[in-house]
Amino acid sequence: MQMRNVDPLDGVTLGFVGAGNMAEALIRGLLRNTSIVPGSILVNNRGNAARLVGLKDRYGIVPEESKDVLCARADLLVLAVKPADIDVCTTQLEPYVRRDHLILSVLAGVRLAALAARLPRGRRIVRAMPNTSATVGAGITAITYPSDTDEDIRALVDAIFAAVGEVVSVAEDMIDVVTGLSGSGPAYIYLVAEALAEAGRKLGLSREIALRLAIETIAGAGAMMKSGVEPSSLRRQVTSAGGTTEAGLAILQDRGLSAMMEAAVDSASKRSRELADLCRTERSEVNTAGSLY
Ligand SMILES: NC(=O)c1ccc[n+]([C@@H]2O[C@H](COP(=O)([O-])OP(=O)(O)OC[C@H]3O[C@@H](n4cnc5c(N)ncnc54)[C@H](OP(=O)(O)O)[C@@H]3O)[C@@H](O)[C@H]2O)c1
Repeated sequence: MQMRNVDPLDGVTLGFVGAGNMAEALIRGLLRNTSIVPGSILVNNRGNAARLVGLKDRYGIVPEESKDVLCARADLLVLAVKPADIDVCTTQLEPYVRRDHLILSVLAGVRLAALAARLPRGRRIVRAMPNTSATVGAGITAITYPSDTDEDIRALVDAIFAAVGEVVSVAEDMIDVVTGLSGSGPAYIYLVAEALAEAGRKLGLSREIALRLAIETIAGAGAMMKSGVEPSSLRRQVTSAGGTTEAGLAILQDRGLSAMMEAAVDSASKRSRELADLCRTERSEVNTAGSLY
Protein backbone atom coordinates (compact mmCIF):
# COMPACT_ATOMS: atom_id res chain seq x y z
CA MET A 1 0.00 0.00 0.00
CA GLN A 2 1.32 3.44 -0.92
CA MET A 3 1.60 5.72 2.15
CA ARG A 4 0.73 9.37 1.62
CA ASN A 5 3.29 11.75 3.08
CA VAL A 6 0.94 14.24 4.70
CA ASP A 7 2.34 17.26 6.51
CA PRO A 8 0.16 17.74 9.62
CA LEU A 9 0.99 21.46 9.71
CA ASP A 10 0.01 22.07 6.11
CA GLY A 11 -2.55 24.88 5.92
CA VAL A 12 -2.82 25.28 9.71
CA THR A 13 -2.90 28.77 11.22
CA LEU A 14 -1.56 29.01 14.78
CA GLY A 15 -2.68 31.66 17.25
CA PHE A 16 -0.34 32.17 20.18
CA VAL A 17 -1.99 33.65 23.26
CA GLY A 18 1.02 34.73 25.27
CA ALA A 19 4.22 35.88 23.63
CA GLY A 20 6.88 35.11 26.20
CA ASN A 21 9.82 32.73 26.39
CA MET A 22 7.97 29.50 25.64
CA ALA A 23 5.98 31.04 22.79
CA GLU A 24 9.20 32.34 21.24
CA ALA A 25 10.94 28.97 21.64
CA LEU A 26 8.06 27.29 19.80
CA ILE A 27 7.88 29.95 17.09
CA ARG A 28 11.62 29.70 16.46
CA GLY A 29 11.54 25.91 16.31
CA LEU A 30 8.47 25.81 14.08
CA LEU A 31 9.94 28.23 11.57
CA ARG A 32 13.29 26.44 11.54
CA ASN A 33 12.11 22.88 11.47
CA THR A 34 8.66 22.66 9.92
CA SER A 35 6.94 23.80 6.76
CA ILE A 36 4.94 26.47 8.56
CA VAL A 37 5.40 30.00 7.25
CA PRO A 38 5.54 33.18 9.37
CA GLY A 39 2.24 34.45 7.92
CA SER A 40 0.49 31.43 9.48
CA ILE A 41 1.58 32.38 13.00
CA LEU A 42 -0.48 35.02 14.81
CA VAL A 43 0.72 36.23 18.19
CA ASN A 44 -1.18 38.01 20.94
CA ASN A 45 -0.09 39.15 24.40
CA ARG A 46 -1.48 41.18 27.29
CA GLY A 47 -0.35 44.54 25.93
CA ASN A 48 3.42 44.63 25.49
CA ALA A 49 3.37 45.99 21.93
CA ALA A 50 7.16 46.32 21.75
CA ARG A 51 7.50 42.58 22.38
CA LEU A 52 5.15 41.78 19.49
CA VAL A 53 7.07 44.12 17.19
CA GLY A 54 10.32 42.43 18.26
CA LEU A 55 8.89 39.00 17.39
CA LYS A 56 7.66 40.32 14.04
CA ASP A 57 11.10 41.75 13.27
CA ARG A 58 12.89 38.54 14.24
CA TYR A 59 10.55 35.98 12.72
CA GLY A 60 8.10 37.77 10.42
CA ILE A 61 5.11 36.49 12.41
CA VAL A 62 1.84 38.43 12.54
CA PRO A 63 1.21 40.44 15.73
CA GLU A 64 -2.48 40.41 16.59
CA GLU A 65 -3.67 42.61 19.41
CA SER A 66 -7.30 41.51 19.16
CA LYS A 67 -8.25 38.10 20.56
CA ASP A 68 -11.42 38.29 18.50
CA VAL A 69 -9.44 38.48 15.25
CA LEU A 70 -6.85 35.97 16.47
CA CYS A 71 -9.55 33.40 17.22
CA ALA A 72 -11.36 34.09 13.97
CA ARG A 73 -8.21 33.46 11.92
CA ALA A 74 -6.50 30.68 13.86
CA ASP A 75 -7.31 26.95 13.71
CA LEU A 76 -5.17 26.14 16.70
CA LEU A 77 -4.79 28.29 19.83
CA VAL A 78 -1.59 27.88 21.82
CA LEU A 79 -2.13 29.03 25.40
CA ALA A 80 1.25 30.27 26.63
CA VAL A 81 0.48 32.70 29.45
CA LYS A 82 1.67 32.21 33.02
CA PRO A 83 -0.61 29.96 35.10
CA ALA A 84 -1.54 32.91 37.32
CA ASP A 85 -2.96 34.72 34.26
CA ILE A 86 -5.27 31.93 33.18
CA ASP A 87 -8.50 33.40 34.52
CA VAL A 88 -8.13 36.80 32.88
CA CYS A 89 -6.86 35.25 29.68
CA THR A 90 -9.63 32.67 29.32
CA THR A 91 -12.30 35.23 30.22
CA GLN A 92 -11.04 37.36 27.33
CA LEU A 93 -10.82 34.40 24.95
CA GLU A 94 -13.98 32.55 25.84
CA PRO A 95 -16.46 34.55 23.71
CA TYR A 96 -14.39 33.87 20.58
CA VAL A 97 -13.48 30.21 21.04
CA ARG A 98 -15.15 27.93 18.51
CA ARG A 99 -16.01 24.27 18.88
CA ASP A 100 -13.63 23.41 16.07
CA HIS A 101 -10.60 25.16 17.61
CA LEU A 102 -7.84 22.93 18.78
CA ILE A 103 -6.57 24.39 22.07
CA LEU A 104 -3.06 23.54 23.12
CA SER A 105 -2.00 24.55 26.62
CA VAL A 106 1.59 24.63 27.85
CA LEU A 107 0.58 26.04 31.23
CA ALA A 108 2.30 24.19 34.03
CA GLY A 109 -0.04 23.11 36.82
CA VAL A 110 -3.32 23.69 34.95
CA ARG A 111 -5.27 20.50 34.40
CA LEU A 112 -7.41 19.71 31.38
CA ALA A 113 -10.56 19.90 33.53
CA ALA A 114 -9.62 23.39 34.71
CA LEU A 115 -9.11 24.50 31.12
CA ALA A 116 -12.36 22.91 29.97
CA ALA A 117 -14.28 24.67 32.74
CA ARG A 118 -12.87 28.01 31.65
CA LEU A 119 -13.34 27.45 27.92
CA PRO A 120 -16.62 25.51 27.76
CA ARG A 121 -16.89 25.94 24.00
CA GLY A 122 -13.50 24.32 23.54
CA ARG A 123 -14.14 20.73 22.53
CA ARG A 124 -10.56 19.74 21.81
CA ILE A 125 -8.02 20.64 24.46
CA VAL A 126 -4.55 19.12 24.72
CA ARG A 127 -2.07 19.72 27.50
CA ALA A 128 1.68 19.74 27.01
CA MET A 129 4.59 20.05 29.38
CA PRO A 130 7.69 21.24 27.51
CA ASN A 131 10.92 22.21 29.22
CA THR A 132 13.26 25.15 29.00
CA SER A 133 15.69 23.34 26.66
CA ALA A 134 13.07 23.88 23.93
CA THR A 135 14.74 27.30 23.66
CA VAL A 136 17.72 25.64 21.95
CA GLY A 137 15.67 22.97 20.15
CA ALA A 138 16.78 20.31 22.63
CA GLY A 139 13.69 20.09 24.80
CA ILE A 140 11.50 17.19 25.70
CA THR A 141 7.75 17.64 25.87
CA ALA A 142 5.26 15.32 27.53
CA ILE A 143 1.82 15.56 25.98
CA THR A 144 -1.49 14.52 27.52
CA TYR A 145 -4.17 13.74 24.99
CA PRO A 146 -7.75 13.19 26.06
CA SER A 147 -8.53 9.55 25.26
CA ASP A 148 -10.84 10.41 22.34
CA THR A 149 -8.20 12.48 20.51
CA ASP A 150 -7.98 11.37 16.90
CA GLU A 151 -4.75 10.50 15.09
CA ASP A 152 -4.69 13.68 12.99
CA ILE A 153 -4.71 15.87 16.09
CA ARG A 154 -2.01 13.77 17.72
CA ALA A 155 0.16 14.03 14.61
CA LEU A 156 -0.34 17.79 14.49
CA VAL A 157 0.52 18.41 18.14
CA ASP A 158 3.45 15.97 18.03
CA ALA A 159 4.80 17.85 14.98
CA ILE A 160 4.61 21.18 16.82
CA PHE A 161 6.66 19.97 19.79
CA ALA A 162 8.99 17.85 17.67
CA ALA A 163 10.11 21.19 16.24
CA VAL A 164 11.76 21.97 19.61
CA GLY A 165 12.98 18.52 20.64
CA GLU A 166 11.65 15.12 21.58
CA VAL A 167 8.04 14.23 22.34
CA VAL A 168 6.48 11.63 24.65
CA SER A 169 2.87 10.99 25.50
CA VAL A 170 1.74 10.43 29.12
CA ALA A 171 -1.51 10.15 31.05
CA GLU A 172 -2.45 13.37 32.80
CA ASP A 173 -1.88 11.91 36.25
CA MET A 174 1.80 11.54 35.33
CA ILE A 175 2.29 15.18 34.33
CA ASP A 176 3.38 16.17 37.84
CA VAL A 177 6.08 13.49 37.76
CA VAL A 178 7.16 14.76 34.35
CA THR A 179 7.32 18.25 35.82
CA GLY A 180 9.52 16.97 38.66
CA LEU A 181 11.80 15.14 36.24
CA SER A 182 12.19 16.88 32.87
CA GLY A 183 10.45 20.14 33.79
CA SER A 184 12.68 20.94 36.74
CA GLY A 185 15.49 18.61 35.61
CA PRO A 186 17.52 21.15 33.64
CA ALA A 187 18.07 23.06 36.90
CA TYR A 188 19.30 19.88 38.61
CA ILE A 189 21.87 19.45 35.86
CA TYR A 190 22.89 23.12 36.07
CA LEU A 191 23.53 22.51 39.75
CA VAL A 192 25.65 19.46 38.91
CA ALA A 193 27.64 21.63 36.47
CA GLU A 194 28.16 24.28 39.14
CA ALA A 195 29.27 21.64 41.66
CA LEU A 196 31.66 19.95 39.22
CA ALA A 197 33.21 23.27 38.27
CA GLU A 198 33.53 24.36 41.89
CA ALA A 199 35.23 21.07 42.74
CA GLY A 200 37.77 21.65 39.94
CA ARG A 201 38.34 25.22 41.08
CA LYS A 202 38.93 24.17 44.66
CA LEU A 203 41.48 21.65 43.43
CA GLY A 204 43.43 24.33 41.58
CA LEU A 205 41.89 24.93 38.12
CA SER A 206 40.86 28.43 37.07
CA ARG A 207 37.11 29.03 37.38
CA GLU A 208 36.85 29.56 33.63
CA ILE A 209 38.59 26.32 32.66
CA ALA A 210 36.76 24.33 35.36
CA LEU A 211 33.39 25.60 34.11
CA ARG A 212 34.22 24.80 30.48
CA LEU A 213 35.31 21.31 31.46
CA ALA A 214 32.09 20.78 33.44
CA ILE A 215 29.79 22.13 30.73
CA GLU A 216 31.40 20.19 27.87
CA THR A 217 31.51 17.03 29.99
CA ILE A 218 27.76 17.23 30.56
CA ALA A 219 26.99 18.19 26.95
CA GLY A 220 29.21 15.38 25.64
CA ALA A 221 27.70 12.82 28.01
CA GLY A 222 24.28 14.00 26.82
CA ALA A 223 25.28 13.42 23.20
CA MET A 224 26.62 9.94 24.07
CA MET A 225 23.35 9.03 25.80
CA LYS A 226 21.36 10.27 22.82
CA SER A 227 23.24 7.82 20.60
CA GLY A 228 20.90 5.18 21.98
CA VAL A 229 23.15 3.30 24.39
CA GLU A 230 21.69 3.06 27.91
CA PRO A 231 23.38 5.31 30.49
CA SER A 232 24.18 2.28 32.69
CA SER A 233 26.05 0.60 29.78
CA LEU A 234 27.96 3.77 29.02
CA ARG A 235 28.88 4.07 32.68
CA ARG A 236 30.14 0.49 32.82
CA GLN A 237 32.13 1.00 29.61
CA VAL A 238 34.10 3.87 31.15
CA THR A 239 34.57 2.34 34.59
CA SER A 240 37.63 0.09 34.77
CA ALA A 241 38.24 -1.90 37.91
CA GLY A 242 40.57 0.01 40.20
CA GLY A 243 40.54 3.07 37.93
CA THR A 244 39.85 6.77 38.45
CA THR A 245 36.18 6.74 37.43
CA GLU A 246 35.44 3.89 39.81
CA ALA A 247 37.01 5.89 42.63
CA GLY A 248 34.84 8.91 41.87
CA LEU A 249 31.65 6.94 41.33
CA ALA A 250 32.12 5.09 44.63
CA ILE A 251 31.83 8.42 46.46
CA LEU A 252 28.64 9.39 44.59
CA GLN A 253 27.08 5.99 45.22
CA ASP A 254 28.16 5.75 48.86
CA ARG A 255 26.84 9.24 49.58
CA GLY A 256 23.49 8.47 48.02
CA LEU A 257 23.25 10.28 44.68
CA SER A 258 20.41 8.01 43.48
CA ALA A 259 18.41 8.54 46.67
CA MET A 260 18.96 12.29 46.41
CA MET A 261 17.70 12.36 42.81
CA GLU A 262 14.66 10.30 43.75
CA ALA A 263 13.87 12.67 46.61
CA ALA A 264 14.34 15.72 44.38
CA VAL A 265 11.99 14.43 41.66
CA ASP A 266 9.49 13.36 44.32
CA SER A 267 9.57 16.73 46.05
CA ALA A 268 9.20 18.70 42.80
CA SER A 269 6.36 16.39 41.69
CA LYS A 270 4.52 16.92 44.97
CA ARG A 271 4.93 20.67 44.66
CA SER A 272 3.60 20.50 41.11
CA ARG A 273 0.54 18.58 42.34
CA GLU A 274 -0.03 21.10 45.15
CA LEU A 275 0.07 23.99 42.69
CA ALA A 276 -2.24 22.17 40.28
CA ASP A 277 -4.67 21.57 43.17
CA LEU A 278 -4.87 25.34 43.66
CA CYS A 279 -6.09 25.70 40.08
CA ARG A 280 -9.34 23.83 40.50
CA THR A 281 -12.09 23.69 37.98
CA GLU A 282 -13.66 26.72 39.63
CA ARG A 283 -12.23 30.09 38.70
CA SER A 284 -10.31 32.39 41.07
CA GLU A 285 -8.33 29.67 42.80
CA VAL A 286 -5.46 29.80 40.39
CA ASN A 287 -1.84 29.47 41.42
CA THR A 288 -0.99 32.50 43.38
CA ALA A 289 0.98 30.63 45.98
CA GLY A 290 3.89 29.73 43.79
CA SER A 291 5.14 29.24 40.32
CA LEU A 292 6.43 26.28 38.43
CA TYR A 293 8.57 28.42 36.16
N1 LIG B 1 9.59 28.91 30.02
C1 LIG B 1 9.67 27.59 30.15
O1 LIG B 1 10.76 26.98 30.13
C2 LIG B 1 8.42 26.78 30.33
C3 LIG B 1 8.48 25.37 30.38
C4 LIG B 1 7.28 24.63 30.49
C5 LIG B 1 6.06 25.28 30.56
N2 LIG B 1 6.05 26.65 30.53
C6 LIG B 1 4.75 27.31 30.61
O2 LIG B 1 4.64 28.24 29.57
C7 LIG B 1 3.82 29.32 29.99
C8 LIG B 1 4.49 30.62 29.57
O3 LIG B 1 5.74 30.72 30.24
P1 LIG B 1 6.81 31.78 29.76
O4 LIG B 1 8.06 31.45 30.46
O5 LIG B 1 6.81 31.85 28.27
O6 LIG B 1 6.16 33.12 30.37
P2 LIG B 1 6.50 34.63 30.03
O7 LIG B 1 7.79 34.74 29.30
O8 LIG B 1 6.33 35.40 31.31
O9 LIG B 1 5.34 35.08 29.03
C9 LIG B 1 4.00 35.20 29.42
C10 LIG B 1 3.25 35.85 28.29
O10 LIG B 1 1.86 35.83 28.61
C11 LIG B 1 1.30 37.07 28.18
N3 LIG B 1 0.01 37.30 28.78
C12 LIG B 1 -0.31 37.50 30.09
N4 LIG B 1 -1.65 37.69 30.22
C13 LIG B 1 -2.18 37.59 28.97
C14 LIG B 1 -3.48 37.72 28.44
N5 LIG B 1 -4.53 37.96 29.23
N6 LIG B 1 -3.65 37.59 27.11
C15 LIG B 1 -2.61 37.33 26.28
N7 LIG B 1 -1.34 37.22 26.74
C16 LIG B 1 -1.13 37.35 28.06
C17 LIG B 1 2.36 38.07 28.53
O11 LIG B 1 2.09 39.29 27.83
P3 LIG B 1 2.73 40.71 28.28
O12 LIG B 1 4.20 40.61 28.02
O13 LIG B 1 2.04 41.68 27.38
O14 LIG B 1 2.40 40.87 29.73
C18 LIG B 1 3.60 37.31 28.03
O15 LIG B 1 3.74 37.49 26.64
C19 LIG B 1 3.64 29.18 31.49
O16 LIG B 1 2.32 28.78 31.77
C20 LIG B 1 4.61 28.12 31.91
O17 LIG B 1 4.09 27.30 32.93
C21 LIG B 1 7.17 27.40 30.40
